[in-house]
Amino acid sequence: MYAILKTVHSYWAYIVLIILTLATLRSLIGFFTKKTFGVSDFRAGLFGLIVSHIQLLIGLILYFVSPWFDQWSQGMGAVMKDAQTRLYLVEHPTINILALVFITLGWSLHKRVAEDSKKFFRIGTFYAIGLVLLLSRIPWSTWLG
Ligand code: HEM
Repeated sequence: MYAILKTVHSYWAYIVLIILTLATLRSLIGFFTKKTFGVSDFRAGLFGLIVSHIQLLIGLILYFVSPWFDQWSQGMGAVMKDAQTRLYLVEHPTINILALVFITLGWSLHKRVAEDSKKFFRIGTFYAIGLVLLLSRIPWSTWLG
């Protein structure tokens, strides 16, 4: 169970980062070039929302089955003192959940406005913030190493 989830979470991360980057760029370009918000823009944003939410769900289950979770038995102080356990058990989950809040907000807020430029702006900026947050807390050394 753990091995499968870890592998899926690890590979799905590529899909999340690629799709979110494309959806963000598409919206920002649409905003700056004053394009019409079309069906493919809607689909790109929705696709980004769905793949990132799937990653969130996989991550939430992985958290409790990962050997990292056992480190909590050492107590909060020990977990926070070590950069690795702090990243896996505290920073990566909390910052990524926050990133998902931004992405979900961007998606919900774009539906509340009728103007195309505002739709692009809301998705573009909120997804960009979410993406920066995700990138800031990826365990790069173990992922790519
Ligand atoms: C939604 C965006 C997320 C992305 C893009 C992401 C990405 C990643 C990546 C690239 C790794 C490294 C995998 C490896 O070493 O091969 C990782 C590990 C991990 N992630 Fe996430 N993650 C996300 C959300 C979450 C959430 C919300 C949680 C928990 C609530 C979580 C829990 C974990 C855990 C526990 C590990 C370490 C697994 C282990 O080595 O045992 N992730 N994540």
